[in-house]
Amino acid sequence: MHTVLFVPAVYLLLILTPFSNSWWTVGSYLVMDPNQTCKRANWSRGKMADICNNKPGLLNQITKGIALGQTECQYQFRYRRWNCTTSRRSIKKVMLRDTRETGFVNAMIAAGITFQVTRACTKGEQIGCSCSKRKKKKNKKNRPPLLEGEWDGCGENIEFGIKKSKDFLDTRYRKRSDMKTLVKLHNYVAGRLAIKKCMVPVCKCHGLSGSCTLRTCTRKMPTFREVGNRLKERFDGAAKVIAGNDGQSFMPEGETIKRPGRGDLVYSEESPLYCVPNNTLGSFGTQGRICNDTSQGEEGCGILCCGRGYSTYTEEIRVNCNCTFKYCCEVQCDTCKVNKRVNICS
Ligand SMILES: *[C@@H]1O[C@H](CO)[C@@H](O)[C@H](O)[C@H]1NC(C)=O
Ligand SMILES: *[C@@H]1O[C@H](CO)[C@@H](O)[C@H](O)[C@H]1NC(C)=O
Ligand SMILES: *[C@@H]1O[C@H](CO)[C@@H](O)[C@H](O)[C@H]1NC(C)=O
Ligand SMILES: *[C@@H]1O[C@H](CO)[C@@H](O)[C@H](O)[C@H]1NC(C)=O
Ligand SMILES: *[C@@H]1O[C@H](CO)[C@@H](O)[C@H](O)[C@H]1NC(C)=O
Ligand SMILES: *[C@@H]1O[C@H](CO)[C@@H](O)[C@H](O)[C@H]1NC(C)=O
Repeated sequence: MHTVLFVPAVYLLLILTPFSNSWWTVGSYLVMDPNQTCKRANWSRGKMADICNNKPGLLNQITKGIALGQTECQYQFRYRRWNCTTSRRSIKKVMLRDTRETGFVNAMIAAGITFQVTRACTKGEQIGCSCSKRKKKKNKKNRPPLLEGEWDGCGENIEFGIKKSKDFLDTRYRKRSDMKTLVKLHNYVAGRLAIKKCMVPVCKCHGLSGSCTLRTCTRKMPTFREVGNRLKERFDGAAKVIAGNDGQSFMPEGETIKRPGRGDLVYSEESPLYCVPNNTLGSFGTQGRICNDTSQGEEGCGILCCGRGYSTYTEEIRVNCNCTFKYCCEVQCDTCKVNKRVNICS
């Protein structure tokens, strides 16, 4: 029923929307409103269309995954001039470009979908997957080293998450090899690898009174915060690339710079400064943002306020203090007022 109700809206959009730009509007709708993505994309065929039309459970997890990536992007960028705001006026402009920020958002989305779908699979949601089982014998060379013991546990099926993230994000770009598409696909891969490369083994002992005669090991995903931290590092070290001679690839801009690896983030356009409001760029400027006057980093008032200076005021905040443990079992606290200094960019 759900999909049938979709159809008139899709026709309407096909008629009303100029599609010359559709690849990129789809990209920005992904972050602004994933539901719109299905309506905007050419839904008639392809793997993404199949998910949109026939797999509501999976689509629901994908939507959650995109939100997860977005929320983590906001956390990682909370002190940056462009703070990964999902305000349409800003993110739409950012996603139409090909800057480091664009690359980071794309990687976070790909990672978010992979993570959420994999987790849903582990939890037994009915999205057409089973847990991953690896046999000891099949241990190939390029796999991470295993701990001693059997490998017959039921692990998190990251391959399924990766596959679905690819189906939804990558497959519709398959026939394109323009620069922005190549960069986008590369960053999607980097996002997924940030999870895959950080899978950790978890082992359980079985046997009489914990004797560990039999041990099963499985692989578990890192937390999504860890994934975000890792990708933020990749963002800080992202490589600028230019089109390769064959028109099918890209290469680092400087000749001496080493080729970016699959896990590295890439971009092809310099970022705007995001210091002052500019609608064309989707920049809100940094006036009014809270900065840290003792830090030299991106959250420091020097960088965040773009050298315009800042004002300081003290704010009275309430904190828990004087906490005591009462038998049994609660903690009682008083509320204290303390003064906190807050710096605001001019
Ligand atoms: C997307 O659609 C689902 C199901 O129809 C709904 O629960 C969800 O709130 C929608 N999300 C947005 C952002 O509109
Ligand atoms: C959608 O797909 C159809 C056939 O699959 C194609 O003819 C049409 O040009 C596509 N529309 C857009 C906007 O890409
Ligand atoms: C906004 O940015 C564009 C592109 O950099 C620039 O051409 C334009 O002058 C800027 N507008 C304002 C109001 O600063
Ligand atoms: C991002 O920055 C804008 C101002 O540029 C501010 O209004 C907004 O609250 C910030 N959002 C987050 C999530 O920090
Ligand atoms: C400000 O930056 C300093 C130095 O990096 C750090 O020790 C401090 O915790 C930061 N303060 C806040 C409120 O984040
Ligand atoms: C902490 O608790 C003690 C005992 O109840 C009280 O005398 C003291 O004033 C409290 N201190 C604060 C800062 O509230």
